[in-house]
Order: sequence, then structure tokens, then C-alpha cells
Amino acid sequence: MSRQTIVAANWKMNGSLELATQMCNGLNDENFKDNHQVIICPPAPYLSTIQANLKNSQIACGAQNINENEKGAYTGEISALMLNDLQVQYVILGHSERRAMFADSSEIVAEKVAYALASGLKPILCIGETEEERESGETELRLSYQLAPVIAKIGIESFKNVVVAYEPVWAIGTGKTASTKIAQETHEFIRGYLAGFDADVAQQVPLLYGGSVNATNCKELFAQADIDGGLIGGASLKIEEFKKICLAV
Ligand code: PGA
Repeated sequence: MSRQTIVAANWKMNGSLELATQMCNGLNDENFKDNHQVIICPPAPYLSTIQANLKNSQIACGAQNINENEKGAYTGEISALMLNDLQVQYVILGHSERRAMFADSSEIVAEKVAYALASGLKPILCIGETEEERESGETELRLSYQLAPVIAKIGIESFKNVVVAYEPVWAIGTGKTASTKIAQETHEFIRGYLAGFDADVAQQVPLLYGGSVNATNCKELFAQADIDGGLIGGASLKIEEFKKICLAV
């Protein structure tokens, strides 16, 4: 079975209205291969501009976070219902920057994933180990600790609607990409871990690699058996480079 491939742009707190329009114009006319999805995740204020300017059915829009509650006194937060209003389809959850800087524990991430799914959004669930964890041989433990609460909360069947992004924290924004060998081995571990709950579901889940992916290193990474695309930070802010990455799958 061939899995869906995905290249998703995580703009983080970067970009502008101008970039939002230009990125859509730059990508609208591209012919992507079948069963390939491009997702642009800009900061929330640009979501509706991206939605309005997308004219290619293989490109979708995603948010970078939601609150785990439906609505209420949560100043500064965004609800899944608001994303529904804008017809946003995806949401990045559990990014390491949110885990490290905004106290998104794996349990909170699990709640957000559950709430996203209940609201019809597809979560892009990010997991990844720190440099210390990798060096002390705790990568697999860390990844399983991040996955387990989500599986417990939503059930393995629901992973049919989840995208998992493996992003080693030490490779994010550092220019230090994981070697293709490390990336593939870790993706294989993640798929194997999911297969321990349900082998069919594990075969269907798109696994994305993230961490200093660029137009030069993406081809080799995307060619690995268990890597179904990428979650792209810095390079997703450059139109021509991001286009090349989208076409490299
Ligand atoms: P990077 O970021 O490509 O700039 O390393 C990836 C991410 O954080 O999603």
C-alpha cells in the first residue's frame, strides 16, 4: 500500500501578509504527484489569507496550535471551532518549542489531539528527543513516552487521521540534520511502536521528518522507506526552496 506523502510548512512566528499571498501564488500552479499533500501552517493571523489564495486542491492550510478547550476565558488562545470556521484542515500539536516553552506536556498534547480529532481537524503530532537523550541512549524511551498518552487517549484506530512528525530537538533550526540512517532507523522504530498496537494502522500513518530539512538534503531523506515527507521550518519561508522540497517527494 502506498502511503500519502506530505510536506508541511511550519512558519512558526515568522512571515507576513505579503509572504502568505506570494507563497500561495508560487505553489498554486505546481503539479504535485498523486496522493501528495502540501500543508502551509502560518501564524494564525494569516490563515484566512492563505485559505483565500489557495487554488490548488493538493495544498491545505494548518494552524500551529489549539487550546484543548472549546471556548472560554483563555486569553490569547485559539479554539478548534475557530479553525473550523475558516475551514482549516490541519493543526501542528506537540511541537518541541511548545513543549519546552509553553509547558505542553505529553498529557496536554494528548488532550489537544483528541479535541482536534473530535473537531474534524487532522493533527500533525510532533515528537522528538533532545541531544542529551540521544547521547544517553534514551531516544526510543522518550518517543514512546510522547506517543503512549496520545494512544491511550484517542485509541490506535484514530491514528488513521493523525500525521506523526519526528523532529529531533537537536536538529531543529540548528542546521544539524539527522543523518538519513538515524532518521530512517528512528522512523522505523516509531512505525514499529505503533504496529505493536495495530500493524495495519501503523502502515497507514504518514511519518514526517523535521529538523533542518532543505532543498539539498530533502531528496535523500524522503527516499527512505519509513519517511513519508517532512515538516519544514526555516526553509518553508523561502518560496523557491520550499517549492523544490514539495516536489522532491
Ligand atoms: P527547521 O524547523 O526546519 O527550521 O529546523 C523544523 C520545525 O521546527 O518544524
